[in-house]
Amino acid sequence: LGKNLIHRKSIDSTQFLGHDLAREDAPHGTVIIADHQTKGRGRLKRSWHSEDKHGLWFTVILRPTSLEPKDATQLTLVAAVALVEAFRQLGLEVKIKWPNDVFSRRLKLTGILTEMQAEQDQIEYILLGIGMNINQDQDQFPEDLREKVTSLKIETGKSYDLTQVFHEVAQRLEEKYDTFIEEGFEPIKKEWEQHAYRLNEWLTIKTKETFQAKFVGIQHDGALLIEDELGRQTALYSAEIYW
Ligand code: BTN
Repeated sequence: LGKNLIHRKSIDSTQFLGHDLAREDAPHGTVIIADHQTKGRGRLKRSWHSEDKHGLWFTVILRPTSLEPKDATQLTLVAAVALVEAFRQLGLEVKIKWPNDVFSRRLKLTGILTEMQAEQDQIEYILLGIGMNINQDQDQFPEDLREKVTSLKIETGKSYDLTQVFHEVAQRLEEKYDTFIEEGFEPIKKEWEQHAYRLNEWLTIKTKETFQAKFVGIQHDGALLIEDELGRQTALYSAEIYW
């Protein structure tokens, strides 16, 4: 992973170039990394703040030949577990907030955006876009984000060499990806649950109505598993959750 590494000082979004290169047959494991993104994208059509050298903004092109499109979300969960382990190596204990944000305390440290191109039940490629806040100080985040996000530097008080952090993450990603391909999703699911933010706690959830439920784990397809007072389980794919 990352042997084929494409670096840009400034780019609109590493995801855009990722799509272009993947369409042109870039090999599995190609990484596109940028110092700065002018149109960084987040999940749910949000934007992603990616200032110059403040963090790691990169996209990995994956071509998992044996994976079915319906199981592609599992890869996002693989990446989240790899990120938790990378942060641990860097000296910070973090949690995964469903579906795949990495949190420290109650604040967001990294986000993952997965995009897939598939045809007739065959995955052509998956783009794993990872944004990691590393060296920002609190006042370097836009004001409206300050209460919600954090950086590795804010959490530990130290500055980091981005190249070193990248190598740590790339190594963990490769390890976890190999485990996933060789042993399947089960070991990853277990690790994901060990790192889950607020597992076995009662949460307030809003779908059509608002109710309380216990968060008990995730399903194979990444859905959130909740339980009511009688132990009846439901899988949620999208809902507003008051963490
Ligand atoms: C989210 O939490 O909403 C996901 C954020 C993903 C951001 C990364 S930064 C590298 C890659 N390029 C993008 O434009 N987005 C992803």
